[in-house]
Amino acid sequence: MVVIKKAVLPVGGLGTRFLPATKAIPKEMLPVVDKPLIQYAVEEAYAAGVRQMIFITGRHKRAIGDHFDAAFELEYELEKSGKMDMLAVVHGIKPDDMDCVFIRQPRPLGLGHAVLCAESVVGHEPFAVLLADDLMLGREQAQGGATVLQQMVQAYESSPGTVLAVQDVPRAETRRYGVVDVHGETQPLAEVFGMVEKPAPEAAPSTLAVAGRYILTPAVFDSIRRQPRGAGGEIQLTDGIAALIGQEKVQAFRYDGVRYDCGSKEGFLQATIDLALANPELRTSVLAHLQGLKG
Ligand code: UTP
Repeated sequence: MVVIKKAVLPVGGLGTRFLPATKAIPKEMLPVVDKPLIQYAVEEAYAAGVRQMIFITGRHKRAIGDHFDAAFELEYELEKSGKMDMLAVVHGIKPDDMDCVFIRQPRPLGLGHAVLCAESVVGHEPFAVLLADDLMLGREQAQGGATVLQQMVQAYESSPGTVLAVQDVPRAETRRYGVVDVHGETQPLAEVFGMVEKPAPEAAPSTLAVAGRYILTPAVFDSIRRQPRGAGGEIQLTDGIAALIGQEKVQAFRYDGVRYDCGSKEGFLQATIDLALANPELRTSVLAHLQGLKG
């Protein structure tokens, strides 16, 4: 039985760090090698058994809806010209048993607000949240191993409750993340006793930072609603989750894999280089190019 059937994909942010590219194109449509960021996230969710993708969109996000829609003319032309491999690629973007729902976030009032916009579609069941600008790859994923969300679903099955993907970060960088307080080691799952959004290094309760993958319970909706506006005037998801601690089990899960922060230029370029090197068609030429660069 599939326990997590729905995933919320918030894509309503403005992507200001990627201007001018994101003036008319959503940052989630930026391609890493040949696939937009949002498709990596959707494929990860699908591999974990999720069949309903709930996109929380904003202005200029129409391209995401188009990407997961049929493209009759393109498909007709590909078929006519015998490009069956490309036709399969285009068909594969949205498998027949996958359902896409689009909800408009009227204003970018924060990630917590974006998740709240999904409440009526999620209903009363646990659900996943994936931030597509965090490109996550399970360590053995390329060889058929588990994706990060698959690992989290397994963790949820062994211990139901909120599951937050965490990773160790340098203490100097805690200001960029939500940081959890756990007692002892995550092995790989640990109970969370506290959570702070973007703490200063000296105030951070640990160096375990939350990455953009969550399994949440429906109790989070009421909890988000009760929160005052947090850091930056936004309705923060972290505050809503933190308020559940003590009422429900909130757990940190140390995933086995890598994360690229594709909301930043550095992370986006690292992902592009690593995925190009992992691509058999590109590896030799990209490696030759990199090796030929003078430092
Ligand atoms: P970010 O903090 O990366 O913000 O949002 P952003 O606007 O997308 O990018 P910058 O900082 O201006 O460059 C984290 C995630 O939350 C979503 C974003 O789309 C991203 O996936 N988000 C954020 C929303 O869906 N709605 C919001 O109101 C805010």
